[in-house]
Amino acid sequence: MPATCVIGLQWGDEAKGKIVDLLTAQFDVVVRYQGGANAGHTVVVGDQTYKLHHVPSGILNPGVMNVVGPGVVVNPATLLKEIQSLLDRQIPVGGNMLLSDRAHVGFPWHIVEDQARNESTADGENIGTTLRGIGPCYRDKVGRSHAFRLGDLYRPDFREKVQRVVEAKKTLLSGWKNARVDSLDAAEIHAEYHGYAERLRPFVGDSTAYLLDAVEAGKRVLFEGAQGSLLDVDHGTYPFVTGSNSSGGGVSAGSGVPGRCSNQVIGVAKAYTTRVGGGPFPTELHDETGVRIRELGREYGTTTGRPRRCGGFDAVAVRYTARLSGIDVISLMMMDVLSHLPEIKVCVAYDLDGQRIRHFPSHVDDLRRVKPIYETIPGWNQDVSGAKTAADLPSGAKAYLARIAELVGRPVAIASVGPGRAQTIMME
Ligand code: GDP
Ligand code: IMO
Ligand code: MG
Repeated sequence: MPATCVIGLQWGDEAKGKIVDLLTAQFDVVVRYQGGANAGHTVVVGDQTYKLHHVPSGILNPGVMNVVGPGVVVNPATLLKEIQSLLDRQIPVGGNMLLSDRAHVGFPWHIVEDQARNESTADGENIGTTLRGIGPCYRDKVGRSHAFRLGDLYRPDFREKVQRVVEAKKTLLSGWKNARVDSLDAAEIHAEYHGYAERLRPFVGDSTAYLLDAVEAGKRVLFEGAQGSLLDVDHGTYPFVTGSNSSGGGVSAGSGVPGRCSNQVIGVAKAYTTRVGGGPFPTELHDETGVRIRELGREYGTTTGRPRRCGGFDAVAVRYTARLSGIDVISLMMMDVLSHLPEIKVCVAYDLDGQRIRHFPSHVDDLRRVKPIYETIPGWNQDVSGAKTAADLPSGAKAYLARIAELVGRPVAIASVGPGRAQTIMME
């Protein structure tokens, strides 16, 4: 099995970090290839909880190489803090991490722009971003003239370019309401980023060459997606999406490893649905059940601490993303959270203007109008958090997994019953 991809099938926070950490023992290299500090991947090892933003979730396994690919946008201050907090906890970070010199760099002007945009609702409903400057940084990457890649921080013209870009940004953003352009000082930013560049220097290199050699040498590579397929900039609930290709299609573009090298794709989904930030969410529950899911699942953002919006499993959406991301199997998470519900509603189709549909609408205005058509599945009223094998699961939980597999059109290979490594069932 040379390469496997772990992809979120909903709006992020599906517990990709847990699955990547768990699978890492079978791999030589773990690669993050898109997103940036907007991601928050939680890994629980024994009584220790780690929250990772840029660093691949393979870092907790010794002897594995952790690569941050060209498609990631790096916030150096956050990344350095992350590295330091791992070192403080005796997790080695050194020769086991490689940052692509092609990865783009987030700067204070990206945050200024993200904040200004988020504070204004003039353009309609707020996206509710993580305020990490992700969209503006990806925009500069595509725009080309104001962008910095990690490798650019070591070039002789770095100081001069910061000066030029700060002036350009001040002009561009000065007409924006709420854009705090006065906080941007070219000399200060250059000094700060020069310091970051020196501290990151040992990690920076050509990750594309490294990965192409690795796959040619038969090394086993695990790709760790960030966000979820419904947040994909092209295929998600645009414009309520992130700035990168967070569905399966992003793996190759963001890492440089051809798609034909991957031979297994694991789609990670919660047994229900959550979403942080704005945008349509057909199965969102505004009732007592939604509140119970949030409390039982501790559904608060890993990166921003925001309460996550909660709702029932949406099989229309996940069937779409399972096909879009080309998954082979599903890893269904948080089964323990549903144990406490008397009955569980699963959305099997949408009603769009009186028509029953099973496809996921391409326009958010249509998605806003759909009414979920539910099937009610009896709860199992039994704590499953200690289950170790499929045989330990009550028949109601097994029936739920079987129905999800049938609706999505892919088998459930992994069922998760708690955050810990041992709380994972390989279904066979
Ligand atoms: P990611 O961004 O996809 O890696 O997911 P997050 O880390 O943002 O959110 C997932 C949360 O669920 C984390 O706090 C995990 O520790 C936790 N978690 C993972 N699997 C399970 C599970 O099966 N049950 C419960 N109750 N929590 C889980
Ligand atoms: P992980 O990797 C959940 C959401 C934000 C917002 C939208 C755009 O932990 O699953 P951005 O800051 O990217 O411009 O915000 O995307 N979002 C996430 N939601 N999990 C994430 O990452 C997310 N990353 C971004 O809340 O709605
Ligand atoms: Mg997360």
